[in-house]
Amino acid sequence: MITALDKDRIRLRDQARELAQGPIRARAAEVDRTEQYPWDHVDAMKDAGFLGMTIPKAYGGQSKDWLDAVLVIEEMAKTCSIAGRIAVETNMGAVSAIMAYGSEEQRKLAADMVLSGDKPAICITEPDAGSDASGMTTRADKRGNRYVLNGKKHWITGGGVSRLHLIFAKIFDEQGNFEGVGGFLAIRDETQGLEIVKREPTMGLRGIPEAEVAFNDMELPPSALIMPPRGLKKGFADLMTAYNSQRVGAGTVALGIMEGAYELALDWTEEREQFGRPINEFQGVQWRLADMSIRIAAAQALIYKAAESGKDGFPDKIMAAQAKIYTSENAIQVVNEALQLFGARGYSRNLPLERMARDVRMFTIGGGTAEVLRNVVASGLLGKKLPQTRDGYMPKIEAAE
Ligand code: FAD
Ligand code: COA
Repeated sequence: MITALDKDRIRLRDQARELAQGPIRARAAEVDRTEQYPWDHVDAMKDAGFLGMTIPKAYGGQSKDWLDAVLVIEEMAKTCSIAGRIAVETNMGAVSAIMAYGSEEQRKLAADMVLSGDKPAICITEPDAGSDASGMTTRADKRGNRYVLNGKKHWITGGGVSRLHLIFAKIFDEQGNFEGVGGFLAIRDETQGLEIVKREPTMGLRGIPEAEVAFNDMELPPSALIMPPRGLKKGFADLMTAYNSQRVGAGTVALGIMEGAYELALDWTEEREQFGRPINEFQGVQWRLADMSIRIAAAQALIYKAAESGKDGFPDKIMAAQAKIYTSENAIQVVNEALQLFGARGYSRNLPLERMARDVRMFTIGGGTAEVLRNVVASGLLGKKLPQTRDGYMPKIEAAE
C-alpha cells in the first residue's frame, strides 16, 4: 500500500509474495491442523535467501536492513502466520542481539546455525515474571571458570525445535553479589541441564511450539555470555534495545495477517451475491471495507517507519511500541470484520478466516502486551521513568546452593 519502495525492495517483496502465495499458502491450513513445525517452509525460505537476511555479509548473510525483513515477513504472514514468525525470528530478536553484541565466535556460531535453518529461541519470560521481565529469577552464578544457570522460562517460541537459545539471566559473582542481566547462548541437546519441559496448547499459531524450558545446574563457559556493550549493569537495557527489532517483526506478522484477511474479503464481497447484487454494492459493506483499508494503511506506515528508525542500529523503542500496539489491536479488528463479511463461511474451518482470527489474537500479548507497551510509549514521551513496581517489592531469587 505504501509506494516509497525502490526497485530492489519491490523485487524482494515480489519474490516473497510468489513464495507465500504458492507453496506456503498451500500448506498453511495443514500446518495449523497438524501442529507440526513446517520444516518444508524453512527449507523454501532458506533457498529463497529469507533466513538470516539481516546477518552481516561478513558472516554469510546479506546485510539487509529491517525494512527488507519487514517486507518478507509481511508477505509470508498474509498466507501463513508461522512462516511470518520464522522470518521474524531468523532476522530479528535473538539473532540481531548476537550480531550486535556477540563475540566473533558467537556471531559465527549464530550465523551458521540460522543460515542453515535454525530459528533461535529467545528466553525472557518466566512463570512469575512476564510483563515484569526485570523481575526474572533465573540466575547465573560464577563458579571458577563456569557459569551455573538455574531457573525456568515459559512460553518460549520454538522450544523443542529451536537449537540455539538466548537466555536472559541475572548474574552473580563468586561472592553472590548481583552484577546485572546478561544473555547466555546454549544449544539444545548439546548442553546438559537445558530441558524442554512441556509444550503449551495454544489457541492459534499452532505450527510452532510454545514451551516451558528449565535450566537445572546448566554449566556454561564464560564464552557463552554475550557481554552487552555498556557492561552488565546496563545489560538488560541493551538486550531490550535489540528486542525492539522483534517487536517490529511481531507487529509485521499482525499486519500481514490483516492484509491477507482483507484481500480475501475484497474478493469475496465482489463474488458473493445477495438480493440480486454483489454484497459490495451495499453501503454498509463498502464502508466496512473502507475502514479496514484505513486501518491497514495506518498500521503499515507505522511499521515501515519503525523499521526505518533502526537504519543505523535497532528500531527506536517508542516507534516500535507504537507500531506494535496499533497494528496488533487493529489486526484483530480487521480480521474479525473480514470473517463477518464471509457470513457463515467465515466461521468454517474450510476457510482460513477462523485460523487467522485465532492466530492474530496473540499479538497484543506476546513480545510485550499492548498495555505494557503503552507504558513504554508514555515513559518515553514524558521523559519520566514511571515505575510500576510496588515500593519495597523484591522478587525472591532462590539462593545458589
Ligand atoms: P502478565 O504480565 O501476567 O500480564 C497480565 C495482564 O496484566 C496483561 O493484560 C497485562 O497487560 C497486564 N499488566 C501487567 N503489568 C501491567 C502494567 N504495569 N500496566 C498495565 N497492565 C499491566 N516470551 C519469551 O521470553 N520468549 C518467547 O519466545 C515468547 N513467545 C511467546 C509466544 C506467544 C504465543 C505468547 C502468547 C507469549 C510469548 N512470550 C514469550 C511471553 C510474552 O512475552 C508474555 O506473555 C508477555 O510479556 C506478558 O506476560 P504474561 O503473559 O506473564 O502476562
Ligand atoms: N528498548 C530500550 N531500552 C529499554 C527498553 C526497550 N524496549 N525497555 C526497557 N529499556 C531500558 C530502560 O530504558 C531502562 O534503562 P535505564 O536503566 O538505562 O534507564 C532499563 O531498560 C530498565 O527499564 P525500566 O522500564 O526502568 O524497567 P522496569 O523494571 O520497569 O521493566 C519492562 C519494564 C522493560 C520489563 C517492561 O516495560 C517490558 O518491556 N515488559 C515486557 C517484556 C517483554 O517484552 N517480554 C517479551 C518476551 S519475548
